[in-house]
Amino acid sequence: MDKIVIRGGQQLSGSVRISGSKNSALPILAATLLTKERCVIQRVPDLSDVHYMLQILAHLGAEVERASGTVTVQAEKVNTVAPYEIVRKMRASVCVLGPLLGREKEATVSMPGGCVIGDRPIDLHLRGFEGLGAAVRVHAGNVKVFAPELHGTTISLEGKSGTTVLGTDNVMMAAVLAEGTTIIEDAAREPEVVDLANFLQKMGANIEGAGTSRIVIEGAKELHGAEHEVIPDRIEAGTFLIAGAIAGKEVTVNRVRADHLTAITDVLRDCGFGLNGTNGSLSIRPNGATKSLNIKTQPYPGFPTDMQAQMCALLSTVAGVSSVTENIFPQRFMHISELKRMGAAIELDGSTARIRGVGSLSGAPVMASDLRASAALILAGLLADGTTEINRVYHIDRGYEMIDEKLIDLGAQIERVKV
Ligand code: EPU
Repeated sequence: MDKIVIRGGQQLSGSVRISGSKNSALPILAATLLTKERCVIQRVPDLSDVHYMLQILAHLGAEVERASGTVTVQAEKVNTVAPYEIVRKMRASVCVLGPLLGREKEATVSMPGGCVIGDRPIDLHLRGFEGLGAAVRVHAGNVKVFAPELHGTTISLEGKSGTTVLGTDNVMMAAVLAEGTTIIEDAAREPEVVDLANFLQKMGANIEGAGTSRIVIEGAKELHGAEHEVIPDRIEAGTFLIAGAIAGKEVTVNRVRADHLTAITDVLRDCGFGLNGTNGSLSIRPNGATKSLNIKTQPYPGFPTDMQAQMCALLSTVAGVSSVTENIFPQRFMHISELKRMGAAIELDGSTARIRGVGSLSGAPVMASDLRASAALILAGLLADGTTEINRVYHIDRGYEMIDEKLIDLGAQIERVKV
């Protein structure tokens, strides 16, 4: 297991090239199961979660090739069972359910468990499949969905915590091959859902309204092969913007979609940082005094839960008292106790973190608990005096392509050590 060692306090400057989006690439790769023909997906990030997805596709019978950022998948024949040994490694494996159900009218996937960011049910995915006419059985840790035929219908994906991103993806992927019209109400509006819908349309699906809360799908008889380039990773871009805010002279993120980053850039501007750029490239620099903030995570276009931990790291040294409320995963606060070990003054009150900005953080050995918590600890390490050692760093490799190399290029002193 590797660890990352950071000597904090170095000033960062320069530019960083943002990778393709993990959360777009995973469902798009799953969607290649919807056709017998060859699909070519570009700008696929080199991440362990992507490797797990490619393993699942291969297990299901697809031929998979990868040459740097381009993945080719051809699923001429598929089997419909994704076993625990593979699925347990990554929750997003659940998004093969929709395409398998759409194509083969049945799928069995090991039921994903909870994870460190909280309880993560799939009831809304299953509600959507049932709406399309599928039966759902949970047995021996597996969930099986099956139907003689799928029929279009109106489905609401509103749950007690709002809508669901992968649930919207899953229902959309099943509905593209259902008979008739499916209307998804209360759909997730994330750019990653739109990216998947764009790919499905290139495959011959008829989808309108992706990016709004009402998606209308006209079922097709079959889909064909297509080529697609994955959108830039807005969470990686946001993380590097915060690295620039924390330790930057001026840091530029290139190959981004600034329109996907508005909630993040608005918050950074409110905090007192200078941001400018075009839609494809954004720069951040310190701009004098910083201000404490009150933030709430929300579904897109609100402030993303996947940036909450990184924002907590930034606010740890911003003078005044900030509050960060987590509305999507109320228990997603494993980073707080580690940030406190580095000297941050944070109190948790239910799903709100109250952060009193301190003068400085001090380097310490810390433990990464999940992907975004790891990113937050790296950011805190860049800011801290002395050396920070981040253990269990495999979490970071699930979602950030070459984060250590990219930070070194910006001037960080960071080293990956084999343990
Ligand atoms: N929920 C339900 N029932 C369901 C599905 C979700 O109650 O059937 C609840 C969840 O418990 C949560 C809320 O709805 O409270 C939203 O969860 P959602 O289903 O939208 O999450 P997801 O689709 O499983 C994706 C991303 C996450 C990101 C969330 C929210 C992927 C692979 N994962 O997960 O990304 O946090 O949307 O934006 O796209 C990450 O990249 O670090 C990450 C965790």
